[in-house]
Amino acid sequence: QHYQSLGGHIAQVEVQPIIDSTNSELMRRIAAKQTLESGTVIVAEMQHAGRGRRGRVWQSPFGANLYYSYYWRLDDGLQAAMGMSIAVGLAVYDTLKVLYQLDIELKWPNDIYLNKEKLAGVLVELDGQPQGPCHLVIGIGINLQMPASYSLQIDQAWTDLSQHSQQIDKNQLVAHLTYHLEQRLAQYSQTGLHGMYLQWNELNAFAGQCVELNTGHRSWRGICEGIDPQGAIRIRQDGEVKSYYGGEISLRKA
Ligand code: ATP
Ligand code: BTN
Repeated sequence: QHYQSLGGHIAQVEVQPIIDSTNSELMRRIAAKQTLESGTVIVAEMQHAGRGRRGRVWQSPFGANLYYSYYWRLDDGLQAAMGMSIAVGLAVYDTLKVLYQLDIELKWPNDIYLNKEKLAGVLVELDGQPQGPCHLVIGIGINLQMPASYSLQIDQAWTDLSQHSQQIDKNQLVAHLTYHLEQRLAQYSQTGLHGMYLQWNELNAFAGQCVELNTGHRSWRGICEGIDPQGAIRIRQDGEVKSYYGGEISLRKA
């Protein structure tokens, strides 16, 4: 299959039939110090070790869905990558809105829902030092046509694009996703989340709702007030709003 980007910048798209995980493949190439150009994309037809956050499994059956990873090099250190999954979530929003007129909702920090059912997920991984260049792998999984039997494996409500849209052309989806991702990454490098966080807040699946914040060790309850310009989640507790940030934090409806 042939995939191409719509943007001025031509992304290199590599298609693999079966792979452990498109994110793991790019992370291996980074670790092996292989030359990688920003804009390199790997798409697979199936992943046998698809990953979500914190070692969770991302179900990735053959031919059914989109498994996509994008490589991007940042010159200004790890700090600059904070909040990246916010920008990526908006790129997925842009893509699904333009192509299928769908209005997704976003769950901090990395989940994509349609009518309260999980449609897609984002997994951003980094390799780098606090200062100096940083390698970023942006993984995006979008369900296109998941067999119903996967409800046995997925412990939350989920959906796929085939339930919401007539025609899904994977080639066109990859082209648009890459285009919108590059637009959002360019915006992110110029102004961080300043021009994006208010839009993200409009799509916040938990806006104004009572939520539970979990680190595995501790949990808090409060009202979800959206994100701040750094991408931290703001929770109101006893009249006071605090911002939380961190890869270990999970949000649930309380
Ligand atoms: P959080 O990131 O806030 O902890 P989460 O529970 O959704 O939320 P993630 O690591 O983001 O956790 O995603 C992995 C979870 O997504 C799995 O535990 C499973 O519940 C669900 N899941 C796995 N594969 C799929 C899929 N193909 N489609 C939809 N949901 C899936
Ligand atoms: C999540 O919701 O936790 C994120 C899921 C991310 C899945 C994508 S599929 C392509 C890339 N390869 C992986 O192993 N994970 C991401």
